[in-house]
Amino acid sequence: MPDAALPLLCPVCCGPLSRAGVGAAAARTLSCASGHSFDAARQGYFNFLVGKGTPFEPDSAAMVEARVNFLSRGHYLPLARAVAAAVVPSLGEHPAVLDSGTGTGHYLRAVLDASAAAGRPAAALGLDISKFALRRAARLNPEALNVVWDVWRPLPLADDSVDAVTVVFAPRNPAEFARVLRPGGRLVVVTPRPGHLNIVADLTGMLGIEESKEDRLGQAMAEHFDTHSAAPVDIPLELSRRDAADLALMGPAGHHSDRESVEARLAGVPEPLQTGARFQVTVFAVR
Ligand SMILES: C[S@@+](CC[C@H](N)C(=O)[O-])C[C@H]1O[C@@H](n2cnc3c(N)ncnc32)[C@H](O)[C@@H]1O
Ligand SMILES: [Zn+2]
Repeated sequence: MPDAALPLLCPVCCGPLSRAGVGAAAARTLSCASGHSFDAARQGYFNFLVGKGTPFEPDSAAMVEARVNFLSRGHYLPLARAVAAAVVPSLGEHPAVLDSGTGTGHYLRAVLDASAAAGRPAAALGLDISKFALRRAARLNPEALNVVWDVWRPLPLADDSVDAVTVVFAPRNPAEFARVLRPGGRLVVVTPRPGHLNIVADLTGMLGIEESKEDRLGQAMAEHFDTHSAAPVDIPLELSRRDAADLALMGPAGHHSDRESVEARLAGVPEPLQTGARFQVTVFAVR
């Protein structure tokens, strides 16, 4: 990926970061003029958080595995298509995208495929605080740069550097998203709506969705963004008990419950479990 397509900033000194070395080595090392240097992990992702502690509890390997299991069965494909469809119209001549809180890279994969299919293959950066998630993301999206980072810190990207930012069930840093978006760029945010997975949530002890979340999203973005569109994506689901357990364990509930206790709650529940995923895809235009 040429540096010009995705102008990265050094997380230590904020100077431009570029590929170091030649040939295969160049793909594995990023460095700045001040001598800060970052090597790719064996699995292909970069860790920009080295040497600094972060109080955040990242998604565990077990949560990531549950997410991969569930998503790989295709249940949320209509959502992936909706995210990609929201991104493609924003792609310019040298397309570049940021997937913030990329997780296992599932939604970025759909964006990359759709941008290639539209004849505008995008350079991509996937950021996440969980290295377990990024191991999977690096495998799924080898053409993207996958970087361990805390999105509450200044993003390691130059101003006006991407056409679209996607945020799928992940934390939002509106000021930074506005800074890295090019004029005319889009922020695509996916949030759950009230009633999302209600039956599975009741059965497994997942956290509920607050009624006021949709209003709060617009308010939080208003300083930097105008709402361009907001569309529901509702997916009827017929789930096995295994699907339901993965669903519970891949979300915030995975931080405080284990597979055994979730499976015990689901034991004896007749299959398939019928429920519905209720999402909202909101597209914001940078002001
Ligand atoms: C519910 S998951 C969604 C992942 C992915 N977008 C998806 O939908 O499959 C939330 C993600 O946000 C990441 N995350 C949470 N806090 C973060 C932070 N401060 N900086 C970067 N990533 C963060 C988590 O590690 C996790 O991968
Ligand atoms: Zn530096």
